[in-house]
Amino acid sequence: MKKESICLHGGYTPKSGDANVLPIYQSTTYAYDTPEELAHLFDVPKDGHIYTRISNPTVAAFEEKMALLEGGVASMMTSSGQAATLTTVLTVAKAGDNILAFPTLYGGTFNLLKITLDKLGIECRFIKPGATDAEIEALIDEKTKLMFGETIANPAMDIFDFDRFVALCKKHGILLAVDNTLATPCLVTPIKYGVNVVVHSTTKYLDGHAVAVGGLIVDGGNFEYRGNPRYTDFVTPDESYHGTVYVEEGGRAAFALKARMQLMRDIGVSPSPFNAFLTNLGTETLALRMKKHSENALEIAKRLKANPHVSWVKYCGLPDDENHEMAAKYFEGGFGGMVCFGVKGGRAKAADFIRNLGFIRQLTHIADSRTCVLHPASTTHRQLSDKELIDCGIGEDFIRLSVGLESADDIYQDIEQSLNK
Ligand SMILES: Cc1ncc(COP(=O)(O)O)c(C=O)c1O
Repeated sequence: MKKESICLHGGYTPKSGDANVLPIYQSTTYAYDTPEELAHLFDVPKDGHIYTRISNPTVAAFEEKMALLEGGVASMMTSSGQAATLTTVLTVAKAGDNILAFPTLYGGTFNLLKITLDKLGIECRFIKPGATDAEIEALIDEKTKLMFGETIANPAMDIFDFDRFVALCKKHGILLAVDNTLATPCLVTPIKYGVNVVVHSTTKYLDGHAVAVGGLIVDGGNFEYRGNPRYTDFVTPDESYHGTVYVEEGGRAAFALKARMQLMRDIGVSPSPFNAFLTNLGTETLALRMKKHSENALEIAKRLKANPHVSWVKYCGLPDDENHEMAAKYFEGGFGGMVCFGVKGGRAKAADFIRNLGFIRQLTHIADSRTCVLHPASTTHRQLSDKELIDCGIGEDFIRLSVGLESADDIYQDIEQSLNK
């Protein structure tokens, strides 16, 4: 099936007489007639459900849809995007290890990797903007377990160079995980380019209606753990899980199995079945929505470029954008809904611009069906130092615009009247 069809039909096929729409299994537990049946599930968890902290039929249907959309072998939903990133890191790294990441990551992810991981004894080594391969390689040692990036950096809008970083990670046998939240699998499929693990905040375009916080991990099934000294945990028995060897039990889905049976079991960052239902419902129209978000964003970006109150515009869909060439290499069918621009007059004028908007609301949210806006320097990124702000690619005048599904004329009219004021 093509992606438009997977969005609607992937993960759930009703049998005769079943509900045609994915039902909500709002139950913590599952009943079994014999001890042998339940015992079997402890040995082979993929054969059924034991307890909703670990898996649930509604959640599982959405996970299957997402594995199909991303071209992976298995997937696991989490309670939030942050939980998906943390679980990804902890599936491969422990105290004493280190990971590599980019400083332009979403501010919440940056904090998680820089501050909270450090408290757990895992060091995040940040790759300087513009670093050469040799400079990145100088950060790698035998304890490096992961490289983490974003397809579209939020909000700096840098585009991840899949070919370059896949080659670098392969050369050193390091797992590569990419947050594909802002592109979604309807525009970019990182696994196709060799990425090993895809992470999502499903709170954004997948839900699309701003009603359910959630996250997701997709296992690309394309990493060889055997014979790689960095990942002995995958090829030796896990004592906490009756001696399971993840590459043997999980096969190509070893990462997803370890993430679920070790981390989800112990940490419990599980989604509610109701949120999985809402997110699945949103994902049914994802392909259609991403097309319209992309069309609207391109139109708004073009008009902003021509506005005398705007000093600069960043949208990778604009042919003269610095990231266009990179984006054109990897994006299919559009460039997404995120546009950033600078308001002439700096911080004060940027704040005035937000104050004077009409139906476009200021939200600490993006990737919604409704257009929304934010001034990161005074909100999501206010905890960062001036130097860190510059490393993140954010200036005082920086406006993050998440272009929604309204008429492009109405969106621009609201922006224009506010800029005029
Ligand atoms: C690109 C990206 N990744 C991850 C997250 C974190 O996701 P959540 O808010 O669902 O925890 C966000 C949140 O804005 C995000 O924009």
